[in-house]
Amino acid sequence: MSPDQMELVRGTADVLMSIGSRVSDHFYDELFTVAPGVRPLFPDDITEQKIKLMDTLASMVGFMTHPDMFASVARQVGRRHAAYGALADHYGPVGECLLSSLHKVLGPRFTPEVREAWATLYGEIAAVMIAGQEAARGTASAGNPATA
Ligand code: HEM
Repeated sequence: MSPDQMELVRGTADVLMSIGSRVSDHFYDELFTVAPGVRPLFPDDITEQKIKLMDTLASMVGFMTHPDMFASVARQVGRRHAAYGALADHYGPVGECLLSSLHKVLGPRFTPEVREAWATLYGEIAAVMIAGQEAARGTASAGNPATA
């Protein structure tokens, strides 16, 4: 990400603030509409989940200027996603829903440049998460054929 893009993300990240975030409400409504197949992967009650997702994204915004922390946190979250049943193909729809939810909540603040900046951040998180997820799956299936 360029320094300008980091600035654009930081300048609009206030909408991720946890309790009562409208971003996460839109996000899950839209995700479960466009990709209903992923609904069963989540617990019935996603109240806490909404907060955790927004908190993690907020942390990643903070770690944009700390590449080691950024990679380490994204990789750990990715590793956990192997157990949740997340697949690499899910990251596209998840990213689209996130961008569209940010758009809904930010309104005119969501300029094309802001969109591009968030899309770049998401792409970087997703790439590391997918690597972590695949690594965890590789380890799990090599160590325990029952989970392959
Ligand atoms: C940038 C992308 C993503 C981020 C930052 C993210 C973040 C999180 C966080 C913070 C949690 C809470 C539990 C934990 O920390 O391990 C979580 C749970 C979960 N995520 Fe993601 N996630 C992302 C993408 C995805 C994708 C693509 C899927 C695929 C469907 C997915 C499915 C799930 C599920 C099913 C849970 C709930 C697990 C449970 O509580 O049983 N996530 N995610």
